Amino acid sequence: MNSQTEFINEIRLKDGRLLILREPQTADAGEIIEYLNTVGGESDNLLFGKDEFHLTVEQEIEYIAGMSRNSDAHMILAVINDTIVSVAQISSSSRPRIAHNSEIAISVKKEYWGGGIGAAVMGELIRHAKARGNIRSVSLGVRAGNAGAIKLYEKFGFEKVGVHKDYFHVNGTYYDEILMDVMLPS
Ligand SMILES: CC(C)(COP(=O)(O)OP(=O)(O)OC[C@H]1O[C@@H](n2cnc3c(N)ncnc32)[C@H](O)[C@@H]1OP(=O)(O)O)[C@@H](O)C(=O)NCCC(=O)NCCS
Repeated sequence: MNSQTEFINEIRLKDGRLLILREPQTADAGEIIEYLNTVGGESDNLLFGKDEFHLTVEQEIEYIAGMSRNSDAHMILAVINDTIVSVAQISSSSRPRIAHNSEIAISVKKEYWGGGIGAAVMGELIRHAKARGNIRSVSLGVRAGNAGAIKLYEKFGFEKVGVHKDYFHVNGTYYDEILMDVMLPS
């Protein structure tokens, strides 16, 4: 990590390992692409599968740079021993009439599942949303049947608010997307 990195938080996981939460820098671009192409193949629950994340390093660098300029979006990396173990994002619209709503996306590398990383990252995203001051609702979409993720979201107060029928098409099967929201105290 260099001195330019915006450090957000560090958390001691239940197995004793130190989890660092920080904003991405352009130097992370290659590892983020590799990470996304790996996690895409580790579950059928994401919007993309193995090697289906097609940004080049240059495009990812531009994406990260755009993120750091965009006050409506916040991307965080969770890192253990200099390895990215989770990538997550919260974003909202710049349109004033809907700017108080936000949306979350989160993934954790499979070998690290069950260690408290998803909860740590979710906690940070919600903390960020609250700190923004104007955010009233946080939304996400989860593939029907992804019981572990749904349990994690319910722990943070998310409730099912709707369904996108047959939203996912994975290995020839259609799955609904469950839409979940949590309202933040005003
Ligand atoms: C869903 C995901 C983000 C959870 O991350 P994680 O680091 O494994 O979650 P944590 O270890 O922090 O678990 C937090 C809580 O979530 C729930 N949970 C997580 N995984 C679970 C599982 N497989 N079964 C049941 N509950 C689960 C539990 O309530 C858990 O709390 P507990 O350990 O005190 O029981 C991770 O499994 C993942 O990336 N999966 C693949 C991609 C995906 O589904 N992303 C979400 C798309 S919407």
